Amino acid sequence: MSLSNTPLPRTNGGQSRFDSPPASPALLTPVHKSRSLDDCRIIDLPKINDPRGNLTFIEGERHVPFEIRRVYYLYDVPGGAERGGHAHKDLHQLIIAMSGSFDVVLNDGKQQKRFHLNRSYNGMYVCPMIWRELDNFSSGSVCMVLASNLYDPADYYRNYDEFVQAKSS
Ligand code: TYD
Repeated sequence: MSLSNTPLPRTNGGQSRFDSPPASPALLTPVHKSRSLDDCRIIDLPKINDPRGNLTFIEGERHVPFEIRRVYYLYDVPGGAERGGHAHKDLHQLIIAMSGSFDVVLNDGKQQKRFHLNRSYNGMYVCPMIWRELDNFSSGSVCMVLASNLYDPADYYRNYDEFVQAKSS
Protein backbone atom coordinates (compact mmCIF):
# COMPACT_ATOMS: atom_id res chain seq x y z
CA MET A 1 0.00 0.00 0.00
CA SER A 2 1.46 3.35 -0.92
CA LEU A 3 0.37 6.95 -1.04
CA SER A 4 0.22 8.59 -4.42
CA ASN A 5 -0.16 12.28 -5.15
CA THR A 6 -0.83 11.78 -8.84
CA PRO A 7 -4.05 13.55 -9.82
CA LEU A 8 -6.79 11.15 -10.86
CA PRO A 9 -7.73 11.07 -14.52
CA ARG A 10 -11.32 12.14 -15.09
CA THR A 11 -12.95 9.60 -17.30
CA ASN A 12 -16.50 9.12 -18.45
CA GLY A 13 -18.20 5.75 -18.91
CA GLY A 14 -21.12 4.77 -21.07
CA GLN A 15 -24.61 3.69 -20.30
CA SER A 16 -25.48 0.04 -19.96
CA ARG A 17 -26.97 -1.90 -22.84
CA PHE A 18 -28.77 -3.91 -20.17
CA ASP A 19 -30.57 -1.11 -18.40
CA SER A 20 -32.96 -2.14 -15.68
CA PRO A 21 -35.16 0.07 -13.51
CA PRO A 22 -33.25 1.81 -10.70
CA ALA A 23 -33.05 -0.44 -7.65
CA SER A 24 -33.64 2.40 -5.20
CA PRO A 25 -33.58 6.17 -5.23
CA ALA A 26 -29.94 7.28 -5.09
CA LEU A 27 -30.14 9.64 -2.16
CA LEU A 28 -27.05 11.54 -1.09
CA THR A 29 -27.33 11.38 2.67
CA PRO A 30 -25.23 13.69 4.88
CA VAL A 31 -23.48 10.62 6.31
CA HIS A 32 -22.40 9.53 2.82
CA LYS A 33 -21.29 13.05 1.94
CA SER A 34 -18.86 13.11 4.85
CA ARG A 35 -17.33 9.70 4.11
CA SER A 36 -13.55 9.74 3.88
CA LEU A 37 -10.70 7.37 3.07
CA ASP A 38 -10.71 6.43 6.77
CA ASP A 39 -14.00 4.61 6.12
CA CYS A 40 -12.37 2.43 3.44
CA ARG A 41 -10.14 -0.48 4.33
CA ILE A 42 -8.63 -3.78 3.24
CA ILE A 43 -10.73 -6.62 4.64
CA ASP A 44 -9.06 -9.94 5.43
CA LEU A 45 -11.47 -12.64 4.27
CA PRO A 46 -11.63 -16.09 5.85
CA LYS A 47 -9.14 -18.50 4.32
CA ILE A 48 -9.28 -22.26 4.74
CA ASN A 49 -5.81 -23.59 3.97
CA ASP A 50 -5.92 -26.99 2.34
CA PRO A 51 -3.26 -29.00 0.53
CA ARG A 52 -5.92 -29.67 -2.14
CA GLY A 53 -6.28 -25.92 -2.71
CA ASN A 54 -7.29 -23.04 -0.46
CA LEU A 55 -10.85 -21.83 0.01
CA THR A 56 -12.22 -18.38 0.81
CA PHE A 57 -15.85 -17.54 1.47
CA ILE A 58 -17.75 -14.28 1.91
CA GLU A 59 -21.02 -13.87 3.76
CA GLY A 60 -22.95 -10.64 3.23
CA GLU A 61 -23.29 -8.41 6.32
CA ARG A 62 -20.80 -10.67 8.13
CA HIS A 63 -17.51 -10.42 6.26
CA VAL A 64 -18.55 -7.33 4.33
CA PRO A 65 -20.49 -4.44 5.94
CA PHE A 66 -23.40 -4.66 3.50
CA GLU A 67 -25.91 -7.04 1.95
CA ILE A 68 -24.54 -8.36 -1.37
CA ARG A 69 -27.03 -7.64 -4.16
CA ARG A 70 -24.77 -7.75 -7.24
CA VAL A 71 -21.52 -9.31 -8.39
CA TYR A 72 -19.56 -8.26 -11.46
CA TYR A 73 -16.04 -8.83 -12.69
CA LEU A 74 -13.47 -7.33 -15.01
CA TYR A 75 -11.31 -9.66 -17.09
CA ASP A 76 -9.34 -9.63 -20.35
CA VAL A 77 -8.15 -6.16 -19.30
CA PRO A 78 -5.55 -4.99 -21.83
CA GLY A 79 -2.18 -3.77 -20.56
CA GLY A 80 -2.22 -0.10 -19.56
CA ALA A 81 -6.02 0.08 -19.32
CA GLU A 82 -7.77 2.05 -16.59
CA ARG A 83 -11.19 1.27 -15.16
CA GLY A 84 -13.39 3.09 -12.70
CA GLY A 85 -13.13 6.85 -12.95
CA HIS A 86 -16.26 7.50 -10.94
CA ALA A 87 -17.82 7.65 -7.47
CA HIS A 88 -21.07 6.19 -6.20
CA LYS A 89 -23.65 8.12 -4.20
CA ASP A 90 -25.03 5.23 -2.22
CA LEU A 91 -23.24 2.04 -3.23
CA HIS A 92 -20.90 0.00 -1.01
CA GLN A 93 -18.43 -2.27 -2.77
CA LEU A 94 -15.78 -4.87 -2.04
CA ILE A 95 -13.10 -5.16 -4.74
CA ILE A 96 -11.08 -8.38 -4.91
CA ALA A 97 -8.14 -9.43 -7.08
CA MET A 98 -9.43 -12.95 -7.78
CA SER A 99 -6.41 -13.59 -9.98
CA GLY A 100 -3.30 -11.53 -10.72
CA SER A 101 -3.03 -8.00 -9.40
CA PHE A 102 -4.01 -4.37 -9.95
CA ASP A 103 -4.05 -1.06 -8.11
CA VAL A 104 -7.05 0.73 -6.64
CA VAL A 105 -6.65 4.50 -6.24
CA LEU A 106 -9.16 6.03 -3.83
CA ASN A 107 -9.86 9.74 -3.45
CA ASP A 108 -12.30 11.38 -1.02
CA GLY A 109 -11.93 14.86 -2.49
CA LYS A 110 -9.24 15.75 0.04
CA GLN A 111 -6.71 12.97 0.01
CA GLN A 112 -5.77 10.12 -2.28
CA LYS A 113 -4.31 6.67 -1.60
CA ARG A 114 -3.10 3.90 -3.88
CA PHE A 115 -3.64 0.27 -2.80
CA HIS A 116 -2.12 -2.76 -4.52
CA LEU A 117 -4.39 -5.83 -4.51
CA ASN A 118 -2.84 -9.21 -5.27
CA ARG A 119 -4.47 -11.71 -2.87
CA SER A 120 -7.81 -13.43 -3.46
CA TYR A 121 -8.42 -13.50 0.33
CA ASN A 122 -8.19 -9.68 0.61
CA GLY A 123 -10.91 -7.25 -0.40
CA MET A 124 -10.83 -3.47 -0.67
CA TYR A 125 -13.97 -2.11 0.96
CA VAL A 126 -15.05 1.15 -0.71
CA CYS A 127 -17.86 3.10 0.93
CA PRO A 128 -20.16 5.55 -0.89
CA MET A 129 -18.87 8.94 -2.10
CA ILE A 130 -15.29 7.85 -2.84
CA TRP A 131 -13.78 8.45 -6.26
CA ARG A 132 -11.94 5.35 -7.55
CA GLU A 133 -9.60 4.43 -10.37
CA LEU A 134 -8.28 0.93 -11.12
CA ASP A 135 -5.06 0.55 -13.08
CA ASN A 136 -1.79 -1.38 -13.28
CA PHE A 137 -3.63 -4.62 -14.17
CA SER A 138 -1.34 -7.61 -14.53
CA SER A 139 -1.79 -9.88 -17.52
CA GLY A 140 -4.71 -12.28 -17.02
CA SER A 141 -5.93 -10.57 -13.85
CA VAL A 142 -9.54 -10.81 -12.75
CA CYS A 143 -11.18 -8.12 -10.61
CA MET A 144 -14.35 -9.21 -8.86
CA VAL A 145 -16.64 -6.62 -7.26
CA LEU A 146 -19.36 -7.32 -4.71
CA ALA A 147 -21.91 -4.51 -4.59
CA SER A 148 -24.67 -3.53 -2.18
CA ASN A 149 -27.22 -2.74 -4.87
CA LEU A 150 -28.31 -3.43 -8.43
CA TYR A 151 -26.82 -1.43 -11.30
CA ASP A 152 -28.21 2.10 -11.32
CA PRO A 153 -26.68 4.75 -13.62
CA ALA A 154 -28.23 7.47 -11.42
CA ASP A 155 -25.99 6.36 -8.55
CA TYR A 156 -22.80 7.47 -10.38
CA TYR A 157 -20.72 10.64 -10.35
CA ARG A 158 -18.70 10.35 -13.56
CA ASN A 159 -17.32 13.88 -13.43
CA TYR A 160 -14.65 14.51 -10.77
CA ASP A 161 -15.45 18.21 -10.35
CA GLU A 162 -19.13 17.43 -9.77
CA PHE A 163 -18.12 14.82 -7.22
CA VAL A 164 -15.91 17.27 -5.31
CA GLN A 165 -18.63 19.90 -5.45
CA ALA A 166 -21.17 17.43 -4.06
CA LYS A 167 -18.78 16.55 -1.21
CA SER A 168 -18.36 20.18 -0.21
CA SER A 169 -21.91 21.48 -0.75
P1 TYD B 1 -18.57 1.08 -15.51
O1 TYD B 1 -19.22 1.11 -14.18
O2 TYD B 1 -18.26 2.40 -16.15
O3 TYD B 1 -17.25 0.18 -15.46
P2 TYD B 1 -15.85 0.45 -14.73
O4 TYD B 1 -16.13 1.16 -13.47
O5 TYD B 1 -15.30 -0.90 -14.50
O6 TYD B 1 -14.96 1.20 -15.64
O7 TYD B 1 -19.49 0.22 -16.48
C1 TYD B 1 -19.10 -0.06 -17.82
C2 TYD B 1 -20.35 -0.43 -18.61
O8 TYD B 1 -20.96 -1.60 -18.09
C3 TYD B 1 -21.41 0.66 -18.60
O9 TYD B 1 -22.00 0.68 -19.89
C4 TYD B 1 -22.42 0.19 -17.60
C5 TYD B 1 -22.30 -1.33 -17.70
N1 TYD B 1 -22.59 -2.01 -16.41
C6 TYD B 1 -23.76 -2.71 -16.27
O10 TYD B 1 -24.62 -2.76 -17.18
N2 TYD B 1 -23.99 -3.35 -15.09
C7 TYD B 1 -23.10 -3.31 -14.07
O11 TYD B 1 -23.33 -3.92 -12.99
C8 TYD B 1 -21.88 -2.58 -14.24
C9 TYD B 1 -20.86 -2.48 -13.13
C10 TYD B 1 -21.68 -1.94 -15.43
